Amino acid sequence: MAEEKWVMMVTAQTPTNIAVIKYWGKRDEVRILPINDSISVTLDPDHLCTLTTVSVSPSFDRDRMWLNGKEISLSGSRYQNCLREIRSRADDLEDKEKGIKIEKKDWQKLHLHIASHNNFPTAAGLASSAAGFACLVFALAKLMNVNEDPSQLSAIARQGSGSACRSLFGGFVKWNMGNKEDGSDSVAVQLVDDKHWDDLVIIIAVVSSREKETSSTSGMRESVETSLLLQHRAKEVVPVRILQMEEAIKNRDFTSFTKLTCSDSNQFHAVCMDTSPPIFYMNDTSHRIISLVEKWNRSAGTPEIAYTFDAGPNAVLIARNRKVAVELMQGLLYCFPPKPDTDMKSYVLGDTSIVKEAGLEGELPQGIKDKIGNQDQKGEVSYFICSRPGRGPVVLQDQTQALLHPQTGLPK
Ligand code: DP6
Repeated sequence: MAEEKWVMMVTAQTPTNIAVIKYWGKRDEVRILPINDSISVTLDPDHLCTLTTVSVSPSFDRDRMWLNGKEISLSGSRYQNCLREIRSRADDLEDKEKGIKIEKKDWQKLHLHIASHNNFPTAAGLASSAAGFACLVFALAKLMNVNEDPSQLSAIARQGSGSACRSLFGGFVKWNMGNKEDGSDSVAVQLVDDKHWDDLVIIIAVVSSREKETSSTSGMRESVETSLLLQHRAKEVVPVRILQMEEAIKNRDFTSFTKLTCSDSNQFHAVCMDTSPPIFYMNDTSHRIISLVEKWNRSAGTPEIAYTFDAGPNAVLIARNRKVAVELMQGLLYCFPPKPDTDMKSYVLGDTSIVKEAGLEGELPQGIKDKIGNQDQKGEVSYFICSRPGRGPVVLQDQTQALLHPQTGLPK
């Protein structure tokens, strides 16, 4: 390896994912091994994703990382485990054009610079760690010429954050809990790609929260230690639901999908309540959104909208198709209008064609009023994001998108 001042880099984009059958509880805290399987839908990276540039150079004197422009420490065990695992799989690499040759053994001595950026506010509590660790592992695997398939990479991303393993694929993804002690069979697999069920529209209501929530990591630890309901859920409920959910997804059976998604979200929050001391992730606005959807589905006579909530008050609503999504957006904007000083451009993000089609002028049609019922209390939604099922990670060829400077390897 020549000791010149070259810098090599790779930039990747990785989506975030939302679980429809939740992961909650670990059987191994270090390797991050779950007590049950889970299933998620990957969101379109155009609307929610992480961009990560990883670079290597003989001139770097230590591993460094910048997250959303601020330098962060890589000393935590989650980062260290991911870096160790990926380095141990690195392979020979040659860039003939630049005259660079890195041998397998060199990777142990070479240091890395990493810069990562979310295209959505980190404070929104939208599973940024899932996309973040998946992107880190995916980009490093490309940089270091790691010859492993996405499932094997998912087992590395899992050691950064459990839900990250599901962000290595697009469409609908299952994380098999596995049963080996070393975690080698606790990997994610793709159930179907993003084209399989592309009628679905996903609307996220980012709900303002006043308090800092319990992190997923400590919340699920407390549930494992204290909740009997969690034991029952993992042993008896989830195994059956996983099979039913796989069937519903395969057949694009929205009625079963909605029933399973809503029940699983509600059971996850019931487990949180069954934890001692109880954990409250949803707030009044979250509860109002649940009521609105339940009322809507009842009045439509058949399920048209599914809801799911993670470790926070944000609602993830999955509409059966675009027509329902447009009506739902009209209803949501009626119940949760923007504050007078907020313009629509910053109130509805992502696929804004939905809100354009919804048309904001004039009275809310009676049909929609009937579906949402009497919603006289105004809730607190910070903004909405419209999205859809999306693809898995990709390498970006356009060098101008890199977050690190191609000569110095420092943030741009
Ligand atoms: C409620 O993956 O954030 O979003 O593995 O400790 O990093 P760690 O937890 P994390 O937990 C996600 C929990 C959840 C459900 C889910 O995504 O399945």
